[in-house]
Amino acid sequence: MASPTSPRTFHVKSFGCQMNVYDGERMAELLAAQGMTPADARDDADLVVLNTCHIREKATEKVYSDIGRLRREDGSSPLIAVAGCVAQAEGEEIMARAPSVRVVVGPQAYHRLPEMVAEAAAGKRATETDMPAEAKFAALPRRRRSGPSAFLTVQEGCDKFCTYCVVPYTRGAEISRPFADLVEEAKLLVEGGAREITLLGQNVNAWAGEDAKGRATGLAGLAAELAAIPDLARIRYTTSHPADMDEALIAAHGTNAKLMPFLHLPVQSGNDRVLKAMNRSHTAESYLRLLERVRAARPDIALSGDFIVGFPGETDAEFEDTLRIVDAVGYAQAFSFKYSPRPGTPAATMEDHVPAEVMDERLQRLQAALNRDQLAFNRASVGRRCTVLVERRGKHPGQWLGKSPWLQSVHFTGDAAIGDLVEVDLVEAGPNSLAGQPAG
Ligand code: 5AD
Ligand code: SF4
Repeated sequence: MASPTSPRTFHVKSFGCQMNVYDGERMAELLAAQGMTPADARDDADLVVLNTCHIREKATEKVYSDIGRLRREDGSSPLIAVAGCVAQAEGEEIMARAPSVRVVVGPQAYHRLPEMVAEAAAGKRATETDMPAEAKFAALPRRRRSGPSAFLTVQEGCDKFCTYCVVPYTRGAEISRPFADLVEEAKLLVEGGAREITLLGQNVNAWAGEDAKGRATGLAGLAAELAAIPDLARIRYTTSHPADMDEALIAAHGTNAKLMPFLHLPVQSGNDRVLKAMNRSHTAESYLRLLERVRAARPDIALSGDFIVGFPGETDAEFEDTLRIVDAVGYAQAFSFKYSPRPGTPAATMEDHVPAEVMDERLQRLQAALNRDQLAFNRASVGRRCTVLVERRGKHPGQWLGKSPWLQSVHFTGDAAIGDLVEVDLVEAGPNSLAGQPAG
């Protein structure tokens, strides 16, 4: 049973995308602002928040098994709150199936977490899965501390309705946070130690707002304003949709020196029939043309993507088109997934679901190609000199770990501190990281 007294310690566990990581950080700040203390281990926490992800299968089952695992040897449980996209999609079912869960809170309502926890501590069970547009961010505490690399959610939700995807249902319609709020939050993050900010959104490049002079602006305008913050060295953004890659944003890759040469631009499939059935608004050809324009603006840009294999009806020949587009692009890194039917999405009721073993085989072939290209990209970086933003200590004495401008993990040994930007020569490449030497 839940503890009858108010929780004093908490642990937030986030699954899934970077936006969930951001939400998890904000929930932790919110609880800390109530005087609660963070606990590193969930076993030491009076309150455990499971910040869940619903994008692919097994997520829900995982939540139930996590809830089960929270039961302690003496039979007691911490106060359990389920947050995130599973909470949004299946809140009622969670409440019905898992009596030890006291709070269910969706991704647009977590600013109410402290009062819901208080209600739960008083013996009630509380659910909030409303999707009010903008109440949440205004109700969160001001940010004070940050690591060298920080996330900043600028946009949430999605209006694209790709036929396989739950996001438009769990995160709701696209909303953009106001320009001034974002500039303020970025400044606080930089004052708190951030040297790099990654702007986040399900469709981050659909962000739209008005600048300080009241002029309509897109992500390029926001990035330009953030670039004026002196101690901010790097700006990144993710995840983008090809349809929202406007001229200004492409040009910014050539003109905004703080905008890093990296673009995560999912294509999902290399076949036009599949792309159409997915309700993607691009073709393989239009995607490649778009990349040409991005590369013209920033020739050294590193590209990343997302892929789905085994979308309903995908034939062998159609899958070969995906391998073809991978060859044509030469990704620096990528994520690839087996299609997973999500309840309530149009693709879930399409015909011709691809057998599991075919999906497995396609995923293996695709990942082999993507791994090959990632290693090739890393090897091609050997001999380059670049700055590395130091994020943490390495395993060995004097060793540091950080990221190159192209988002590669780099380790080097030398004089440095967390948050430093160190010039290094890249001397050796592996599939997942590079070795560097301080320049000079
Ligand atoms: N099945 C498999 N992969 C999916 N993604 C989104 N929905 C599904 C699904 N139903 C992948 C897409 C998206 C990434 C975040 O997750 O590739 O870009
Ligand atoms: Fe999902 Fe498509 Fe929206 Fe991305 S663009 S969140 S894949 S619906």
